[in-house]
Amino acid sequence: MAQIIDGNLVAKITRQYAADLVAQAELRGISPGLAVVLVGEDPASQSYVRMKERDCAEVGIKSFDYRRPAEISQAGLNGIIDECNSDSGIHGILVQMPLPDGLDAEEAIARISPKKDVDGFHPLNLGRLVRGLPALRACTPWGVMAMLDHYGIDPAGKRAVVVGRSTIVGKPMALMLLERHATVTVAHSRTQDLQAVCREADILVAAVGRPHMITADHVKPGAVVIDVGINRTDSGLVGDVEFATVEPVASWITPVPGGVGPMTRAMLVLNTAQAASVSD
Ligand code: GUN
Repeated sequence: MAQIIDGNLVAKITRQYAADLVAQAELRGISPGLAVVLVGEDPASQSYVRMKERDCAEVGIKSFDYRRPAEISQAGLNGIIDECNSDSGIHGILVQMPLPDGLDAEEAIARISPKKDVDGFHPLNLGRLVRGLPALRACTPWGVMAMLDHYGIDPAGKRAVVVGRSTIVGKPMALMLLERHATVTVAHSRTQDLQAVCREADILVAAVGRPHMITADHVKPGAVVIDVGINRTDSGLVGDVEFATVEPVASWITPVPGGVGPMTRAMLVLNTAQAASVSD
């Protein structure tokens, strides 16, 4: 039976560390602030944003709410980002994705000051990740790395398979595992014989957004299985991994909920605390 990777526990430790950084910044007269930009009424985005703002409050980060209707123009959105970029009381800017149709996410992301890009989505921060340089890093994959580290799971020399090639998770996840000396494969919807590819993995990261698509047949006995999926179904929140059948096969597994989700939010407050710590 797999051991459980407890995202709530590692997130709590991470938030404590972020709170320590916030306290140190306060001593230097800096009061860390995060701008949360939510455009439209998507219920999932509203609930994520609520939780992110609650996490900020817990560690002493001020959050500044910018809620706008889906009809806002690109110029209007750009204006909010410009305002946040030049506000010295704001150290992190989060534009909740996905943006409603008609708004250009790439334009918005590129407009955020890279120093305030606590999502790690800006091309400069992604480029620095590719180059192995310090940078603000995408919260979900960076949170996965923090969980592996907490449990002493060292990717060096292991076969890692990342299923999913999104810019938010799959691609940066692959780069972070590569940086830690894993042999990395990125699988996706066009991958032939996905089961066989997944069965090669010592560390299997599922980030596709399809409920329960990874079953015991995809998992090598003793593998570490990380489930990034958060799928809303009629039977509640489920991951990309069929937990019940995979748990007996894996050595370690993240549950949904209580796995990667809390870590994503914890890394956001950590990134914000760190961005504030290096600000003048
Ligand atoms: N939508 C899904 N995940 C994320 C995230 O990590 N950051 C933002 N801004 N939007 C998201």
